[in-house]
Amino acid sequence: MSARIISIANQKGGVGKTATTTNLGASLYGLGHRVLVVDMDPQGNLSASFGGQPQVQTTIADALLDRAVPVPLVPVYSEGEARLDLVPATVTLATAEAALMNKLGREFRLRDALGTIADRYDFILIDTPPSLGLLTINSLVAAQLVVVPTEARFFSLQGLKMLQESIDEILYINPNLRILGILLSKFDRRLREEQQVASYLRGNWGDLVFDTSVGTNSKILEAASAGVPLVELNGSQRATDTYRSLAKEVLARV
Ligand SMILES: Nc1ncnc2c1ncn2[C@@H]1O[C@H](COP(=O)(O)OP(=O)(O)OP(=O)(O)O)[C@@H](O)[C@H]1O
Ligand SMILES: [Mg+2]
Repeated sequence: MSARIISIANQKGGVGKTATTTNLGASLYGLGHRVLVVDMDPQGNLSASFGGQPQVQTTIADALLDRAVPVPLVPVYSEGEARLDLVPATVTLATAEAALMNKLGREFRLRDALGTIADRYDFILIDTPPSLGLLTINSLVAAQLVVVPTEARFFSLQGLKMLQESIDEILYINPNLRILGILLSKFDRRLREEQQVASYLRGNWGDLVFDTSVGTNSKILEAASAGVPLVELNGSQRATDTYRSLAKEVLARV
């Protein structure tokens, strides 16, 4: 069976897209799955979160621009059947986005590239940049599912509406796309505003909001800076458990 392809998207910056992709990916791997994580952000934060890959020759940018270039797969972990591979990105992806504008079928490049390897994985998670540009569009066209990490702030509600509108537009070319869940990814329960927004979200979006929420936790920042998923960081048990329960919710929903 071909992989479930999940885009992690929110055009708002710094809401936890990359942390979610990294740690959900690592948790799904830890639960025995074959996982591919794809960096579609020229910032390359996902690539850095898996240790950075200075030795790679090609990146996702090359495969998007030239259909003849295979998707570069960097092995990160494997044990038995389970594995986690990374498709890296660097800042050259920004130039590639501009160049893609003049290419035929520019919205379908990622979908077609992943189509050739999707049967090798159970899950493909795509980390997207903080914009609704062509890289995010490619990611949403390639996916069947979207996970939306969000902060619990009043300003984030407007952003969610914008994202919903973009997804509605994408449905014209990818009618199977649906939101798998909204994740409170940097939730500070001590703040009244955050509690209010969280309960508004649950009231408005109902079951679409994951039961699991990720609390603000300095270990998440530390792990990202160290270039490892949380599981590899000492003293990160609580945050690791949170992402594991998110992974179980994802498994129950797909
Ligand atoms: N629950 C959390 N608690 C504490 N820090 C977090 C949490 N989630 C993410 N962070 C940190 O917040 C910052 C932004 O998170 P992240 O990079 O995952 O967001 P992003 O949505 O991918 O950002 P961008 O839009 O720039 O790609 C990072 O430094 C990250 O380590
Ligand atoms: Mg990011």
